[in-house]
Amino acid sequence: MALYAAIVGWGMSVPTRVVTNAELSTLVDTSDEWIQSRTGIRERHIISNGESTSTLAVAASRDAMAMAGVTAADIDMVIVATFTPDRPLPATACRVQAALGITNAAAFDIAAACSGFVYGLTVATSLIQTGAAKRILFCATDVVSHFVNWTDRNTCVLFGDGAGAVILEATDQPYGLLSSDLGAAGDREELLMVEAGGTCLPLTPDVLATDKRFLTMNGREIFKLAVRAMEVSSLAALQKANLSLADIAVVVPHQANRRIIEAIAERMAVPIQQFYINVERYGNTSAATIPMALTEAAAEGVIQHDTNILLTAFGGGLTWASAVVRWGVPVQRLPVHGQAKTERSAE
Ligand code: UT7
Repeated sequence: MALYAAIVGWGMSVPTRVVTNAELSTLVDTSDEWIQSRTGIRERHIISNGESTSTLAVAASRDAMAMAGVTAADIDMVIVATFTPDRPLPATACRVQAALGITNAAAFDIAAACSGFVYGLTVATSLIQTGAAKRILFCATDVVSHFVNWTDRNTCVLFGDGAGAVILEATDQPYGLLSSDLGAAGDREELLMVEAGGTCLPLTPDVLATDKRFLTMNGREIFKLAVRAMEVSSLAALQKANLSLADIAVVVPHQANRRIIEAIAERMAVPIQQFYINVERYGNTSAATIPMALTEAAAEGVIQHDTNILLTAFGGGLTWASAVVRWGVPVQRLPVHGQAKTERSAE
């Protein structure tokens, strides 16, 4: 019997502080007009006052757990996708696990930058399919502002902080991830990277005096590569699921730039109205963009029970990833703590 990993709960969280384009134009030589016309971004949320990668993850996870109707005791694995961990050690997933009181679970991080949600969904689903886990809390969370150079107009206007979480649960019903296509080109790391801060180039006083601790990007090149890679891998994911674009109701792409999304829509000949876009309010939150968009799309009724969704992402690594997901909570659920069996509540 085929085993699937249904998405039975979801949630998102962003920092309280909102930074508008007008505020950024007081820091660097830019304008609301340039940012909106070149990227579609109006504002982004940036951490302050004790917020961090894990606090955002915990808030998103609490919502996802509440929606799924599960408690800490029901979760046997915690996975966090991030390239901006709370600390080098331990994994942010361990801090999330501790904060939520999930005592009987494995916990680890994965890093695939902006492709982290689709990579992580693939890993988590596989772990459920092998029987290594039954119910996973998977959270994609990034505080990109930690690596932003606030004097570099080429990058500082693009990014924001946020988190999105899902609860994945074993089921024999065909929900959750139906297929995925993952790729990477490690030989192009220089196009999008944070050069210093790891073992290769430690943060010595000399290095700290340079821009190498910040995120740098060749925007024009990334733009072109992103459009092409997301188109090709989307079609590959569809083929693996034995579906075509006609079977997809909603595309939820990585939210880096509205123009990138429009270019993909044009190349795939899919009406832009079928793409869910919320980049205007959050900017590029790296791995968090897709689960945040899924959460908002579900809240708005854009995605519903049985909706076939195409996810596609591109980011540092370089990495790219696409997936076909069937949205919906199976009627028959795994038992949750203290109950014999649960029935699907209105999602
Ligand atoms: O998550 C995945 C990783 N990231 C991405 O997917 C981002 C991919 N790239 C992009 O989204 C776009 O390339 C950008 C938004 C970064 C830039 O848009 P663009 O249309 O490719 O602009 P450009 O880099 O070709 O720059 C055009 C001009 C330049 O001036 P000159 O050289 O033509 O005089 C830039 O210096 O715009 C200038 N510019 C700005 N002007 C005002 C760059 N940033 C800004 C700014 N405000 N913030």
